[in-house]
Amino acid sequence: MPYAGVIQRYRAYMDLPDHTRPITLLEGATPLIPLPRLAQDLGGECEIYAKFEGLNPTGSFKDRGMTAAISECAGRGVQAVICASTGNTAASAAAYAARAGQRCIVLIPQGKVAAGKLAGAVAYGAQVIQIDGSFDDALTLVVSLSQKYPIALVNSLNPYRLEGQKTAAFEICDDLGAAPDWLCLPVGNAGNITSYWMGFQQYDSLKHTGRPRILGVQAAGSAPLVLGRPVEKPETVATAIRIGRPARGEQALEAAEQSGGRIIAVSDDDILAMQRRLAAEGVWVEPASAAGLAGLAQQVQAGQFDVRGKRIVGICTGHGLKDPEIIAKTMDKPLLVTPTLEALAEVINR
Ligand code: F0G
Repeated sequence: MPYAGVIQRYRAYMDLPDHTRPITLLEGATPLIPLPRLAQDLGGECEIYAKFEGLNPTGSFKDRGMTAAISECAGRGVQAVICASTGNTAASAAAYAARAGQRCIVLIPQGKVAAGKLAGAVAYGAQVIQIDGSFDDALTLVVSLSQKYPIALVNSLNPYRLEGQKTAAFEICDDLGAAPDWLCLPVGNAGNITSYWMGFQQYDSLKHTGRPRILGVQAAGSAPLVLGRPVEKPETVATAIRIGRPARGEQALEAAEQSGGRIIAVSDDDILAMQRRLAAEGVWVEPASAAGLAGLAQQVQAGQFDVRGKRIVGICTGHGLKDPEIIAKTMDKPLLVTPTLEALAEVINR
């Protein structure tokens, strides 16, 4: 049978109600790309892979959870869905709602959503509303709206989002034959880390695939789980994880602790350096997506982490195309040269 998305592939392991009617864009089945040069740079004698979730249909990992949430909604006749978002959830909800014929409303923090995400949400036909506030404010508002009106909430507070998202853990075990030693991933609202831990535990109980230690990574300017308190005005170049009050913060801390891992923070410079490093190995991810492996590199440099003999998977949550402006802003702009052979030869041979 041709591949038909994560619900078709993993439904037996997903806790979805019988009424669920699959709405899919053939999300999932993303590659584990080996990163031999990064492995060498970090000391060698280890395997490092990027699970490139940016290759999902709307360019981010959110499509896994969204197929589940929207399918559950479709099965009970929901007409409209709503979410708060730093951008990727918005684009994903918009696409799956469009596919299901549902209305989609998204609330985003003004001026802090990368161009490729906003364009996606608009292109898929969502009603996009900016608020003069943060993601955390937007989330509070959509929770209230979904309680007051017949509009279903599709943020990761919706349990079916996690049911879909955890399929990424199943894929990793199926591809590697077992769980990796370490899983490194960015943490924002904390649905993703919670889902991975659910997925790895479940697969281990059923198939004895083992469990990874989890390194959750926040941006230093938006690190409530590292500071142990909410951050009122989160800031970071990685706008996807610019979140000060993670909805699933407690579960994220539990996942890190139970797995024998930890949650740490990295600077924006570390995030952008890892973005460049991954691109230099052919994998272009958006800034937030580089945070997981930036955290690994930071821990190795600080002598907190010995990679020898380890198999490590970094979750690259979103595609670089989502945030083209960051490249224009922080990286070298192309030279402008007169269109003559002489001028070009001069530049090339410089
Ligand atoms: N990476 C990217 C690219 C994201 O878009 C997000 C979250 C995360 C990591 C963090 O995942 O929230 O499950 O801990 N983006 C949400 C959104 C908040 O609205 O698109 P998390």
